[in-house]
Amino acid sequence: MSDGASPRDGASDGVRDLDVLVLGATGFTGRLVAQQLAERAALTGVRWAVAGRSPDKLAMLLTQLGVPHVPSVVVDLQDGAALERAARRTRVLLDLAGPYSTTADAVIEACVRGGASYVDLSGEIPAVARSVRAWHEPARRAGVRVVQVSGYEALPADLAVLVACSRAARTDASAASDGTAGALGDGPGAGGPVVAVSVTTTARPPRRRMGLSDAVSGGTLQSIAEVLADDDARAAGDPAALVPDERAARRVRRTSPLSLRPRVVRGRVLGPLVPAGFIDPPVLHRTAALLAAERGVPHSPAALAEGMDIGPARLPVGALALLAATASAALQRAVLGLTRLPSPVRARVASALARVLPGSGTGPRGEVLDGWTWSVRADALTRSGARASAVLDGVGHPGYRATARMVAEVGLLLAASADDPPRTGHLTPALAVGLEGLPALAAAGLVLRED
Ligand SMILES: NC(=O)c1ccc[n+]([C@@H]2O[C@H](COP(=O)([O-])OP(=O)(O)OC[C@H]3O[C@@H](n4cnc5c(N)ncnc54)[C@H](OP(=O)(O)O)[C@@H]3O)[C@@H](O)[C@H]2O)c1
Repeated sequence: MSDGASPRDGASDGVRDLDVLVLGATGFTGRLVAQQLAERAALTGVRWAVAGRSPDKLAMLLTQLGVPHVPSVVVDLQDGAALERAARRTRVLLDLAGPYSTTADAVIEACVRGGASYVDLSGEIPAVARSVRAWHEPARRAGVRVVQVSGYEALPADLAVLVACSRAARTDASAASDGTAGALGDGPGAGGPVVAVSVTTTARPPRRRMGLSDAVSGGTLQSIAEVLADDDARAAGDPAALVPDERAARRVRRTSPLSLRPRVVRGRVLGPLVPAGFIDPPVLHRTAALLAAERGVPHSPAALAEGMDIGPARLPVGALALLAATASAALQRAVLGLTRLPSPVRARVASALARVLPGSGTGPRGEVLDGWTWSVRADALTRSGARASAVLDGVGHPGYRATARMVAEVGLLLAASADDPPRTGHLTPALAVGLEGLPALAAAGLVLRED
């Protein structure tokens, strides 16, 4: 990797013939993203294209989607020069060619050098932490945005917290006699008045029996195996992994240690977020840290508690809910336990898992992809006791249908603001979208519930 970022050579210089390029469009999630863009292009006229290593697969995909006229770009992740040529053609590159731990760096480098913004769905926090350190400043200098973890993990929670914190800060400011408390856009404690944030996800799947491939795609399972093989695997359980300033990171770990413990809140049993309760927290803390840096104040983190609503706590059904939450927490603790094993052992476990887990192209289909509704609620509490909340409602399988729609819409938003981006650097999904971009996500089925 080199810090060869050149200034963004302008989306209006005649060189870029595309707004959005979908790399990995032939994969399970990539296809869903391409489907969303095909539908949206008919309405918006966005210039988009698909990219991948197989020309035949790309052509077949476009035919199946009924858009054979859409351009395709043949590029292999191993070919840095071809990646950069592809990046120079577009305002935004959506990278769906995961697992990302060993591949995203080259694509991000190509985008930063080529003046395109980059978005992916990585949940591989150790590798994202390396990207934050390597690419935040070069991306700023190049005038582009690098946005990772931009799917169900962690976009809805990140945005819900941003809205709740900004509402809490406003409530606090109107209550404060000097009118100075709080600032619009505070994240969890970004130097503002918010001291505690809780995030609760409720998901209502379609009523039918579901197997492993109805829940997660092969690419996601292979990504978990890659995290285990990562040299920095321990960072997977670090809530401060994406806060590079070590003093601020220590404050995050002290104030808001990662907890996967089941809890009972307002008569409901909460377990850790599924499939992993340790992916969102580092992102949410980074949002707060970036906001604090923007405001020129020290990052003073809030205590964050995230959970998945498993069911009512009242007996007898509450016992089953508690059992499910405990099992989910135990499984996730076991995964984090594996990240602490010596490297050669982890490498063997990772390669065994990669062999036995389902591979590329598998994932939920049909009713299991579309028959879901879900919501993410964030509650923020300020130092002076003011409270505010925000609820985002979503439709479709959170990890795939909704994720694909959300990442496509993030791509459209970033393309629309490519000439004059409000923020640049290695951003979180919430800061890439911003409060002002949230209404556009309605096209992805993600809607802020009215009070
Ligand atoms: N955070 C979230 O909420 C979330 C949600 C969904 C997915 N994800 C992540 O998204 C990623 C993709 O998942 P998936 O199930 O869609 O994966 P997948 O079906 O395995 O697709 C992988 C894609 O990468 C392409 N690819 C692989 N190696 C390549 C190379 N050398 N050059 C060019 N292209 C290459 C594949 O091309 P071929 O078709 O030619 O093999 C395919 O298009 C995973 O990392 C998963 O964890 C995250």
